[in-house]
Amino acid sequence: MQRPRLACLAWITACSLLLGQNRPTISDEGKVPPYTLPAVLEFADGSPVKTPEQWRQRRTQVLRLFEEHVYGRTPAAPTKLSFVIREENPKALGGLATRRQVEIRAGEGKELRMGLLLYVPNQRQGRAPAFLGLNFAGNHAIHSDPEILVTQGWVRNDPALGIADNRATAKSRGATRSRWAVETILAKGYALATMYYGDVDPDFDDGFQNGPHPLFYKAGQTRPGADEWGTIGAWAWGLSRALDYLASDEAIDATRVAVMGHSRLGKAALWAGAQDERFAVVISNNSGCGGAALSKRIFGETVGRINTAFPHWFCGNHKKYNDQEAALPVDQHMLLALIAPRGAYVASAQDDSWADPVGEHLAVVHADPVYRLLGTAGLPQPGFPALNQPVMGALGYHIRTGKHDVTAYDWEQYLKFADQHLKPRDKK
Ligand code: GCU
Repeated sequence: MQRPRLACLAWITACSLLLGQNRPTISDEGKVPPYTLPAVLEFADGSPVKTPEQWRQRRTQVLRLFEEHVYGRTPAAPTKLSFVIREENPKALGGLATRRQVEIRAGEGKELRMGLLLYVPNQRQGRAPAFLGLNFAGNHAIHSDPEILVTQGWVRNDPALGIADNRATAKSRGATRSRWAVETILAKGYALATMYYGDVDPDFDDGFQNGPHPLFYKAGQTRPGADEWGTIGAWAWGLSRALDYLASDEAIDATRVAVMGHSRLGKAALWAGAQDERFAVVISNNSGCGGAALSKRIFGETVGRINTAFPHWFCGNHKKYNDQEAALPVDQHMLLALIAPRGAYVASAQDDSWADPVGEHLAVVHADPVYRLLGTAGLPQPGFPALNQPVMGALGYHIRTGKHDVTAYDWEQYLKFADQHLKPRDKK
């Protein structure tokens, strides 16, 4: 008898979706229910992880768990990847930098084209270390430089920015420049590389027909399997392809690249840094749920909420944990641990309770034992720091005053952290 079983299943699904939407948001610290975090320094069979060598084995287990239950498996780099320099100017920004605009082409037959904007400081000795991050509104929105190519891809409509029909216009030039401290970064000797996130995978649920997913479908496959990548996985993959380009650019030292992202793009930066050990530093700005914040700590956005509002971000399996966070075999401290011993910095904002600053900080605290096992100083102070009082070791954290955003203050800390972690190597 198929019918009653189907009806029952539909009823359960409808209820859990409703619960996901209706469970009241907790924004009062005193109302956080008790929770238990999975032990990061313990193998799946319960035996302890005591040495750095054992951690390498445990690390593989943890990575597989994140693939299977959270972000989905990412396919390997496409066999065909090419870089086309579309524009170059050695005297950009009044001579401060060399600008290159590169098209990264991935795939055979079906091809994905992603536009990378790169500024390299002209005042430098040897190859420059770099910051790499995806942006929300197009490369042309990060600075008012009139030579930046306006993105041709899908963008969210925004009348204030002159965006209708999902197409960007010159009106959005420089619209998000307060989030990118371009001149400051360059003056400190760092290059800046950025790519529009919609060039990698447009941020809407289309059943995975656009973006890189179709490049990897097997014959007859029309969407990723339940344990295969969603859109965050795709953005992270795009960051790795951008790093592939940077590794081919002789002005850049690809062993000294910090991957950085804000909010949903902070989630992508963390997942990119966890998977791709070429990233020397990983920076999460207000990444929240599915980023740096613990999922089992119910505060602000929850797994059920995020999977309901953004069904395309995580893998299909992740939906099993809507309102069932206790059953998740991992939590986000383990994502940070995957980055160890490389530098990892998490930033929160006081007025961003949706992203759960305390949960973001606790993930850093609980990643610390892995950093210490690997011989680093980890997070120098475990207590929740005062506002605007950054803590920096191999792990770093700050909570600043203000709202969900990327500010000059945030960049000031990222530059300090990068100075500590991306020191020039001995001359090669
Ligand atoms: C929403 C979403 C967050 C996300 C944020 C953003 O608020 O719920 O998870 O981080 O958008 O990307 O700006």
